[in-house]
Amino acid sequence: MGIDFKGKVAIVTGAGGGLGRTHALELAKRGAKVVVNDLGGAMDGTGGSSKAADAVVAEIKAAGGEAISNGSSVSDRKGVANLVKQTMDAFGRIDILINNAGILRDKSFKKMELDDFQVVVDVHLMGSAFCTKAVWPIMSEQNYGRIVMTTSPSGLYGNFGQANYGAAKLGVVGLMNTLKIEGTKNNIRINAIAPVAATRMTENLLPKEALEKLGPELVTPGVVYLCSEDAPSGTILQAMGGRFSVAAVMENQGVDLSQACTVENVAENWGAISDLSKAKPR
Ligand code: NAI
Repeated sequence: MGIDFKGKVAIVTGAGGGLGRTHALELAKRGAKVVVNDLGGAMDGTGGSSKAADAVVAEIKAAGGEAISNGSSVSDRKGVANLVKQTMDAFGRIDILINNAGILRDKSFKKMELDDFQVVVDVHLMGSAFCTKAVWPIMSEQNYGRIVMTTSPSGLYGNFGQANYGAAKLGVVGLMNTLKIEGTKNNIRINAIAPVAATRMTENLLPKEALEKLGPELVTPGVVYLCSEDAPSGTILQAMGGRFSVAAVMENQGVDLSQACTVENVAENWGAISDLSKAKPR
């Protein structure tokens, strides 16, 4: 195996099923000591038990790997402090954090209750911020860290019924954009994955034939690469059914209207101002 994680310690949030489970299994297979976090609730974030995380730990151990489970909610600051303490007590360091935990509360914006907006932002955006903040001093001190945010095509491009989820998912990209700058001097690299995969989250959204080709294990190699020594930093990696591509925010050259900066001139030049045909990432 070319890329290994011997001596490295990884926390994967929401790893009791779906994508988090395959990320955890692959890291463990490659030698990482893995902390399998999962609240174990329903898809809307209600309920909870450590059973899901325990089952993945058992799977890792049965394959000869090393893992412990943690049942904290990523949106609970005390729970996150516990998760990090438990990891440090067991393994003494934290090299990798995959912010993967997530829930859905889909509804058109017109019908959406603000509580459903808030709770989705709390899990995806605040949960990622809490976990990242908790490991940041440890990674800074070690001069080593690899962090993966989980964004989504819904955040990058929008999706009907997912105003809450899309806002939270693009929020984690904003967090990444600043942390990639702040982490550089301590060798902390941070990237985002925008996956599409057959999990309980998508089982009722995509046709069965499509789901068969979209196993989460076809996303995980990209995520595990983003956790490796040679990972890039600040990249949005899209992954679906074994196909990988990069998404980026682009910018065109712009038009200088400083000599006559009026509303009419903006309107008159809108074609050139909004022409993205020669746009480039910054
Ligand atoms: P999933 O529902 O199988 O996995 C999410 C896991 O997070 C569950 O095991 C759940 O118990 C756990 N979780 C939920 N709230 C938690 C909390 N507060 N604290 C700790 N754990 C919590 O769904 P899937 O598809 O594996 O999702 C993984 C990530 O990928 C999510 O962030 C999701 O938004 C994202 N994603 C998935 C896509 C897909 O096509 N499946 C598309 C785009 C993004």
